[in-house]
Amino acid sequence: MNFKGRDVISIKDFSREEILYILDVAEKMLPIAEGKKKSNLLNGYIMASLFFEPSTRTRLSFEAAMKRLGGNVIGFAQPGTTSLQKGETLADTIKTAESYCDVIVMRHPKEGSARMAAKFASVPIINGGDGAGHHPTQCLLDLFTIRKEKGQIEGNRVALLGDLKYGRTVHSLAYALALFKVDMVFISPPELQMPKEVIEECREMGANITIKNSLEGLDEIDVLYVTRIQKERFPDPEEYKKVAGSYRIDLKTLENVKEDMIIMHPLPRVDEISPEVDETKHAAYFRQTFNGVPVRMALLALVLGEIK
Ligand code: NCD
Repeated sequence: MNFKGRDVISIKDFSREEILYILDVAEKMLPIAEGKKKSNLLNGYIMASLFFEPSTRTRLSFEAAMKRLGGNVIGFAQPGTTSLQKGETLADTIKTAESYCDVIVMRHPKEGSARMAAKFASVPIINGGDGAGHHPTQCLLDLFTIRKEKGQIEGNRVALLGDLKYGRTVHSLAYALALFKVDMVFISPPELQMPKEVIEECREMGANITIKNSLEGLDEIDVLYVTRIQKERFPDPEEYKKVAGSYRIDLKTLENVKEDMIIMHPLPRVDEISPEVDETKHAAYFRQTFNGVPVRMALLALVLGEIK
């Protein structure tokens, strides 16, 4: 399998075999990600991290991944300090950045922006989230987490809970789980349901999908994937107010769940998981956060051609 020079725009661009291969490479990266083993695999390479939208985990874990592998990082997290402020286009920003680096990681509020950037760039573009569109690297770390925590991806019943309309992580994850023919339950307020085209496409791929508006039936779930309501993507603040706080996972909600059910969350959380849940054996979200490092190390090494 050769990933050299490849863009990472949507999880839909990857086959099941390719995904599993990336997860296997990530597994081998674990001791380096934990700082227990040193590596110079990406020595001499530069990653540009262009964040046009807020980020904590995606940007920091990409930067940590690059540095753990001996590479260098340039970039910005406050686009207000760049020439965008003077009216420069995304295309020109990308053409500039690519002349200084070997790979670009970008996050942008507009859906489709990463795909567009890839047309202008000759270096690989890795999409760190494009509006409500895709978040392929989060998806890979989510799959890595499920496999690590549950032994395998197949055979689990996975509930995606929350803002399934605007949440890009759940769009990517639904497609990927459909590739693995996983049973899925989509739980959201009616206003925030999974887009119809995602549901249809996942069903066509052979996924068994149940759609719900309430938390009933959690006792049948193996993986509960919680998301925050994407306040910044609501066209009307009044619409946000109607759904704010409409679901919350606390100790009471977890009374009848399976012993080994895990709770995941891409984070940041607002109020959808009560902090008391962090102490339970179900909480996997901070381990999930760490998994961003080995997975992003694997992706960087693969697209830069240092691992074949
Ligand atoms: C998510 C994102 O940016 O889409 N965060 C992340 O990358 N871990 C989830 C969110 O913002 O709610």
